[in-house]
Order: sequence, then structure tokens, then C-alpha cells
Amino acid sequence: MTILLTGSTGFLGGKLLNNLLETTDHTLFVLVRDMEKAEKLVANLAGQADSRIKLLHGDITQPFCGLSEETIQQLTGKVDLFYHIAALVKFDEELREELFTVNYGGTEHALELAVTLHVKQFLYVSTAYTVGKRSHGVEELYPINSEIHNPYEESKVKSEHLVLSYADQMAVSIFRPSIIVGDSETGEADSEFTLYGFMRALDVFKRRVIRKASNADTIYHVIGSKNATSNLVPVNYVADILALAAKKAEAGVIYNITNPSPATNYDLLTMIKNALNFNQLAIIEDVDVQTLTTEEQQLNGMISVFNAYLSRSFNFDDSNTQRLIEGTAVQHLDMNDKTMQMIIDAYFNVRVDDVN
Ligand SMILES: NC(=O)c1ccc[n+]([C@@H]2O[C@H](COP(=O)([O-])OP(=O)(O)OC[C@H]3O[C@@H](n4cnc5c(N)ncnc54)[C@H](OP(=O)(O)O)[C@@H]3O)[C@@H](O)[C@H]2O)c1
Repeated sequence: MTILLTGSTGFLGGKLLNNLLETTDHTLFVLVRDMEKAEKLVANLAGQADSRIKLLHGDITQPFCGLSEETIQQLTGKVDLFYHIAALVKFDEELREELFTVNYGGTEHALELAVTLHVKQFLYVSTAYTVGKRSHGVEELYPINSEIHNPYEESKVKSEHLVLSYADQMAVSIFRPSIIVGDSETGEADSEFTLYGFMRALDVFKRRVIRKASNADTIYHVIGSKNATSNLVPVNYVADILALAAKKAEAGVIYNITNPSPATNYDLLTMIKNALNFNQLAIIEDVDVQTLTTEEQQLNGMISVFNAYLSRSFNFDDSNTQRLIEGTAVQHLDMNDKTMQMIIDAYFNVRVDDVN
């Protein structure tokens, strides 16, 4: 098979690239905007990365992802499968325009490129949080004007509709991971966003508090719901499913890649406190922000984009994913607390090394 991927210099795309290199003999065209970064990535990959990976310089915000006419001609009719993974994974309202340019515009360019190249199959990585303000996630399209929490979710809801509108031109399928965390074997994670953005903010806050030498008994409250759950999935699980999808994805089908038994926010925060060695954090529910201390208001300001996810539970149907992995070596996710703690510890250990 010949495969074209976007987003391979990122957290999930890098894992998938590695997986495809190790478990298949496909030829991999990798569209990147930063050639230097991509060359370093290829140099660090195992085996025959040099001969099997062909780097294409491009940018998904440009028509045809910025590929030259000559490159498009050379690739036409030669690409079997297109993984579109590249996106901007930030939730801030101020980034609305950029989020739509990269996530929606980028998906439109990727789809147009795929059609021009006569690609047979297009696999799009979305997010489980296109569920928006509903509490139950299904493996179906959500209405285009669904109530959502932020422009990231909105850009992905609209992109999903766009992707499925190409169903008459090639086989399209959508994959929706929940919150992607490190590898379940090693804890390794090349990410600064979602849970990693949250953990970094808590780390920065802890350093500030320690610098001020404030009272070690003071408790700082994070607004959220203790019993609500955070749906975390290890990056290798998501990459395994995407790799299988090359052969097993069904056209027009949506796959939630989610955790069937997610941890509560209380357990998650306890694990983060253990890893950070910072016991002075607690969750507080239904509180008026004005009643919090100045430091607490600062803390909650630093993590405000995560509030929507900490305040409520979502549950997700992942029947299509279970059907996709049935009879393969990939087991339905069953992540225990020990693995989660290891993944969280790995992040802080790496950061301590970085600082040293
Ligand atoms: N992380 C999560 O928890 C999570 C959860 C659910 C779904 N997802 C989805 O999974 C996918 C991958 O997420 P991730 O966490 O791996 O993100 P990431 O680490 O930030 O990687 C994003 C990738 O997109 C590339 N990219 C961004 N803008 C581009 C542009 N204009 N042209 C070409 N490439 C561009 C980046 O290239 P550079 O290296 O040059 O920046 C990078 O390779 C995204 O579609 C995201 O929405 C992520």
C-alpha cells in the first residue's frame, strides 16, 4: 500500500508513523510543514525509515496542502490511503479564526488533494468531544449546529460533516479519540496539549506557590466535579486502531476511540498530586469564583479552558471500534490505575529532567 499522512510530526501522527513502519511494509508519504523537524524525526525512527518514508513539504492551510503541480502529478493514482491527522489542538476562543483555518480549511484542502490524487480511502482523525454539551457520545454525526464548548469542538463538528460529504468520491471514515495520553507501556508522550496542558499549568502553579514560600497547609481549589470522569486513552491504543483501520475501516462509519471505564476527576487529581508531590490541591464543586482566594482565581484562570471537561461526565458508545478490533491482537482498552499513574509520573519525570 502507499499511504499519505498529515500530522506525523505530532503526538498521535508520530506514533502511527512508527507503528506503520514497524508492522507493515507500506510506503509512507508524509506531508510536513517543517522539513528540519521531519528529518530529525525520520533519523530517530527505527529500521528502514529512510527508504520507506518520503517527506513532502506542504501546509494544510494552502490549497492542495501546498503541494506543487509537479508533485501532484507524480502522486496521482499512486496513493491508496490518506490519513488526515494534522490539526490545531487548542481550545481558546481567541484562536477561533486559526482553529477554523487549520482544522476546517485544512480538512477541506486534504479532501480536495485526496480526490485529485484519486485516493481510494480517506481516514479522518476528529475528536470524541464533537459530542459537545451532550453527555452521551454516539458513533454518528452530531447536528452541525450542536451546542459545543469551544471553537476547537466546533471546527471538528463541521469538519466531520465536510468529510462525510465526500463519501460519494472515496471511502471516508472518521476516528474520534477522547483525551490522548502517553504510551501505556512506557508513559512516553510528545504532547503539550489537553491533559498535558492541564498538568503543565498545575506544575507552573506549584512552582509559583513554592517560590512565595506560602503556608504548606493552604489548600488550593480547582473547580470541577469530583465524581465526573475524564476519558483518557493511551496514544499506542489509538495508533493501533488507526493502523488496523487501513484494512478494516468501513466506509461512512464513525469510530469512537474512548475509554470504557474512565477514572474520576478525583482519582485523576490524586494521581497528579502524587506525581507532582504537591498535596495542596483539591476539587471544589458549584462555587462562585469570587469566593475563591486570589491564588485560586489565578489557578482556575490558568486552566479555564479545561473547565468544561472537568465539570461533567461523558460516556461514549464505542461499538464500532470494538467491532473493528474484534479478532485482532488489539484488545479493548482496560487501563488500570497503575498504568495511569505511570503515564502521569512519566510526564513529570521528563519535566524534571528537562529542568535539570
Ligand atoms: N491530543 C489529544 O488529546 C487529542 C484528542 C482527540 C483528538 N485529537 C486529534 O488528533 C490529531 C492529532 O493530535 P495531536 O495531539 O497529535 O496534535 P499535535 O501533537 O499538536 O500534532 C499536530 C500535527 O499537525 C501538524 N500541523 C498543524 N498545522 C499544520 C499545517 N498548517 N500544515 C501541516 N501540518 C500541520 C503539526 O505539524 P508541526 O509539527 O509542524 O507543528 C503536527 O504534526 C488532531 O486531529 C487532534 O484534533 C487529539
